[in-house]
Amino acid sequence: MIVNSWNEWDPLRHVIVGKADNCHIPPPEPALDAKVPEDSDMKGSWGKRSPETISRANELLDNFTKQLEGLGVKVDRPIPIDFSEPVKTPDFQTQSQFGCMPPRDVLLTLGSEILEATMSYRCRWFEYLCYRPLLQKYWELDKNFRHEAAPKPRLTDDDYHPDYLSEKIGESKRLEWAAEKFFVTTEEEPLFDAADILRFGKDLVVQHGFTTNLKGIEWLRRHFRDHRIHTVNFPGDPYPIHIDATFTPLRPGLVLNNPNRRLPDEQRKLFNNNDWEIVDAAQPAHNAPPPLCYSSTWLSMNVLVLDPKTVCVEKSEVYQAEQMDKLGMNVIEVDLRAAYAFGGGLHCCTADVFREGGCQDYFPNQ
Ligand code: ALA
Repeated sequence: MIVNSWNEWDPLRHVIVGKADNCHIPPPEPALDAKVPEDSDMKGSWGKRSPETISRANELLDNFTKQLEGLGVKVDRPIPIDFSEPVKTPDFQTQSQFGCMPPRDVLLTLGSEILEATMSYRCRWFEYLCYRPLLQKYWELDKNFRHEAAPKPRLTDDDYHPDYLSEKIGESKRLEWAAEKFFVTTEEEPLFDAADILRFGKDLVVQHGFTTNLKGIEWLRRHFRDHRIHTVNFPGDPYPIHIDATFTPLRPGLVLNNPNRRLPDEQRKLFNNNDWEIVDAAQPAHNAPPPLCYSSTWLSMNVLVLDPKTVCVEKSEVYQAEQMDKLGMNVIEVDLRAAYAFGGGLHCCTADVFREGGCQDYFPNQ
């Protein structure tokens, strides 16, 4: 058996770690523009990232790979495609692609299945190709492996609310819209990124936001018929994409929640009714993200759990490491900050292939 993973914390034995090769800052497009913070140094600049930053990011990703291998975790790496190639379909075109540093965004592993997400950015439409050689290999080796791909979206202009195209929306307006669940993506067709989904055995928790719409969540509900799908949203996040700098399960019964993006009371019931504790995450160690980075400083909580007692935390995130220690976790420090700009932190740059354990029901009281 090659592929098996039901949650975010069981002992990790096999993982994919992304690469920074040839990574591009993509040209403007509706979904991406809505996500890049208004005061970001990325506004208006696009093209291939500098060779120095690419090799530094790759050095860190290679070191992380060696660290994991040293701990007995098997690591596979994607085969990058040429991200300078434009993407053209009958419905849209864009001048360049993105990269393959964050496999978590694209691949969802659930049990013996790996599902390629629809994705919601035009520049990421072909990113799954970087993982196909690996998935084909798993398919040859593992008779139980189910390789699935969600329907490719058309990503016409109808997929995006034009209000979000404005240059200056302002944070208070964004927070108001997020609270009203008015996001950049429309309900034209199912859309989801895999990084909006957290796996808790029989239950999947899915963030409704910029990169995942309600039809995407409904698609997941119809696809994973043996699972219960819970839609969540985090009103304090003005750029709600990807759940893994917001809500981080560490082990059965314990989740960290970003204190600026609290899970609304109504949505806490599932956790409260089943004796799960939701703890505020420690503050990030940094006041600002590194240069040319899409993500917020909250990549501090974008950790990779190796087993219910062991967690990889970025080396400079001293407050997060201290909190992990207090919560009874052994911390493995990983130097990754100079790779954040390429697509995220330790959870983002990995995708599960194999964790021990089976599908359990952690929330019997629904
Ligand atoms: N949504 C994530 C952040 O906070 C990626 O940056």
